[in-house]
Amino acid sequence: METHKLVMPEHLNHFGFLFGGNLLKWTDEIAYIAVTLDYPGCNFVTVGMDKIEFRKSIRQGTILCFDSRRSRTGNTSVEYVVDVTREEITTGQKELVFTTRITFVSVDEEGRKKPICRAKGG
Ligand SMILES: CC(C)(COP(=O)(O)OP(=O)(O)OC[C@H]1O[C@@H](n2cnc3c(N)ncnc32)[C@H](O)[C@@H]1OP(=O)(O)O)[C@@H](O)C(=O)NCCC(=O)NCCS
Repeated sequence: METHKLVMPEHLNHFGFLFGGNLLKWTDEIAYIAVTLDYPGCNFVTVGMDKIEFRKSIRQGTILCFDSRRSRTGNTSVEYVVDVTREEITTGQKELVFTTRITFVSVDEEGRKKPICRAKGG
């Protein structure tokens, strides 16, 4: 699944670059939407994210592209890889600015883990 976000002034830290917490929030939210659409009728919570590294600073006005792909399915858990790229508007050149793996666990109404349901189209 691919989706985009525009970096606005309210997303910046006091140095004027994107605040890392916002990037993590968007990553969690976008991957959550992907897993929820991939497994209709299943409820998921986030259990873990891989090592987090911010190696590129991101300016206001940047359009970020989030690409989330399912990378592993377990018994109660599903892992997604999320790659975040920015596109240079003038040249169209893309640059990877962040990547992580995020795992969701399928839960029942009481929040207890349960086996994942059948995937859409699966
Ligand atoms: C998610 C939760 C229900 C899992 O229950 P649990 O009894 O701790 O489950 P387990 O340790 O047996 O792990 C369940 C699955 O998650 C996987 N898992 C556990 N910790 C993981 C981690 N850090 N990274 C990736 N996968 C992980 C396990 O491998 C297992 O997968 P499988 O069943 O596909 O083999 C429970 O930890 C919980 O409620 N966490 C809070 C979730 C939440 O509120 N998230 C929002 C942020 S606060």
